Amino acid sequence: MSISARLRAGVTTTSAAETRALAAEFAATLPRDTTLALHGDMGVGKTTFVQGFAEGLGVHEHVTSPTFAIYSVYRGAGRTLVHLDAYRLENEHQIEALLLDEFLVSPWVLAVEWPEKIAPWLPSDTQHLTLSIEDGDRHRLRLH
Ligand SMILES: Nc1ncnc2c1ncn2[C@@H]1O[C@H](COP(=O)(O)OP(=O)(O)O)[C@@H](O)[C@H]1O
Ligand SMILES: [Mg+2]
Repeated sequence: MSISARLRAGVTTTSAAETRALAAEFAATLPRDTTLALHGDMGVGKTTFVQGFAEGLGVHEHVTSPTFAIYSVYRGAGRTLVHLDAYRLENEHQIEALLLDEFLVSPWVLAVEWPEKIAPWLPSDTQHLTLSIEDGDRHRLRLH
């Protein structure tokens, strides 16, 4: 089964490393200029997923939570990764002031934490991944 088919069916990982490995595999299959919305509460593994995602895109820098910076830009082997944390945004109208478009130079991938804050702004072809904690280190990931 392909990685996206597996994620659509729902996958449970048992460690952060497993989530990162899955994310890296998934990143390699994404079409160019894709937005990935990461849904789920604090601590479910959104940033962990983006770390693996970055590895899969050939980013060598360490990815941290951009909560205070709002977003971070990383250069991958072939693509630019923009990691946006919308937690502190009020609504989609605040996106424009961030000049995000300047960094979305094709081919890019945009990973968004707290996407519900800016839902109307998200491109219509955005892929949505929902994360949750089943129990302890068992985290559930599902693409929809
Ligand atoms: N199976 C798992 N998948 C992802 N993270 C896990 C898993 N098990 C434990 N963790 C831990 O859960 C935490 C998730 O934090 P983080 O990725 O920052 O979440 P979020 O960005 O959603 O707030 C990390 O400390 C990570 O090591
Ligand atoms: Mg986070």
